[in-house]
Amino acid sequence: MQTIIEPFRIKSVDPIRMTERPERERLLAAAHWNLFGLLAEDVIIDLLTDSGTGAMSSEQWAAIMRGDESYAGAKSFVRFEASVRERTGFEHVIPTHQGRAAEHLLFGVFGGAGKRVLNNTHFDTTRANCEVSGATAVDLPGPAGKDTRSDEPFKGDIDLVGLERELQEHGDAVSLVMVTITNNAGGGQPVSLACLRQVRELCDRFDKPFFLDACRFAENAYLIQQREIGQSGRSVADIAREAFDLADGCTVSAKKDGMANIGGFLACRDNDLAANLRQMLVVTEGFPTYGGLAGRDLDAIAQGLHEVVREDYQQYRHASIKYVVDRLHDAGVPVLRPAGGHAIFLDAGRFLPQIPWNAYPGQALAAELYLAGGIRSCEIGSLMLGRVDPQTGAELPAQHELVRLAIPRRTYTQSHMDYLIEVVLDVHARRDTLRGIGIRWQPKVLRHFSAHFEYLAARATV
Ligand code: F0G
Repeated sequence: MQTIIEPFRIKSVDPIRMTERPERERLLAAAHWNLFGLLAEDVIIDLLTDSGTGAMSSEQWAAIMRGDESYAGAKSFVRFEASVRERTGFEHVIPTHQGRAAEHLLFGVFGGAGKRVLNNTHFDTTRANCEVSGATAVDLPGPAGKDTRSDEPFKGDIDLVGLERELQEHGDAVSLVMVTITNNAGGGQPVSLACLRQVRELCDRFDKPFFLDACRFAENAYLIQQREIGQSGRSVADIAREAFDLADGCTVSAKKDGMANIGGFLACRDNDLAANLRQMLVVTEGFPTYGGLAGRDLDAIAQGLHEVVREDYQQYRHASIKYVVDRLHDAGVPVLRPAGGHAIFLDAGRFLPQIPWNAYPGQALAAELYLAGGIRSCEIGSLMLGRVDPQTGAELPAQHELVRLAIPRRTYTQSHMDYLIEVVLDVHARRDTLRGIGIRWQPKVLRHFSAHFEYLAARATV
């Protein structure tokens, strides 16, 4: 059969409150036109993030009931540790309350003034934790990743030439090499096994530790199975395991491919490093056998790590994202291709060419998607990633003006995706009438979360 169906039935439903445009206009105005200020019940389809927003399986809910809340050595931890070891092969498993806590621990060891950390693209929490430690976070996206229109299969690959140059020029300062799979900040694009093998070689040659930011390791493995020459006969679990085998350790937010609503972990092979990390863990997260989580959360993740590598699950997940990307592309909507692993990225710069970058086309598009259809998405462009020139104080644009429609795992059905397509096409048909957005107030850091906006009267450059 051609039709790929959701490989699950629905046992428990969460009602969606329907709204109409006039009400949504009032709600968004009251939130100062910032989508983060909306209440979830005022959103019809919430595509703000795929992090912790997925649906758990009946086996995960059953595992929750088996949760052992003992302070030390809980049965839940034993199951969690065994599950992470089976998936990753790493001996030492350190639970944390979510991904950024694992990053905080990691940079407690590898960060510090004068150090450099290299990555295909640091996710914003990874960059923040690295920089807070005093280290410099260096992004090295590959050449294909810079072009939103190219059809290259592995646009998440790190720039190997740039990596070698960094290691040659700053060898002593580089404390850690990381690769983010899939590359979230670079459009959810996968990293190939061929690339990971070369990173390993370079790290061996320059004697540097190599860690994966492996939040979406299973989605990356599935895309390798589908796209990399010679990998089509292997299972998702097997490919994922090879990626982990190439690294010395990983940080993971279990809110993504852990299929859980909260949690994370850090895992590694080195005994001394693990002992060091566990000492810090006790200070900030908790005892090493729960690390900031309840026993029941550890059990939900242990089970989620089994489910995420199922071929039918990965096939359905990617088919539903590709379905939206292909429909939008065929209708002439500028959308990042090929489809990534966890989200659809609209290219707002090309969608709204009349709006200059400093009138935030991504934010204008995200606001209109909400007004038109109650869809909540997230700008990833000059509003979120724009930087200030240290010399002149002038604001600099981000590389791309994107809107991310992140798809929570196992949460929405085919008809929700059809509705999403309809809303995007409706806005696309009226794109010439959309106006840019100005900032009326902004905080000093992470401004996209809480800034207040206003519509600009004209289409002119700010
Ligand atoms: N690394 C990557 C690649 C991520 O995408 C995230 C979170 C983290 C680390 C941090 O994990 O949230 O558990 O602390 N990404 C979410 C997102 C927030 O919406 O993409 P966390």
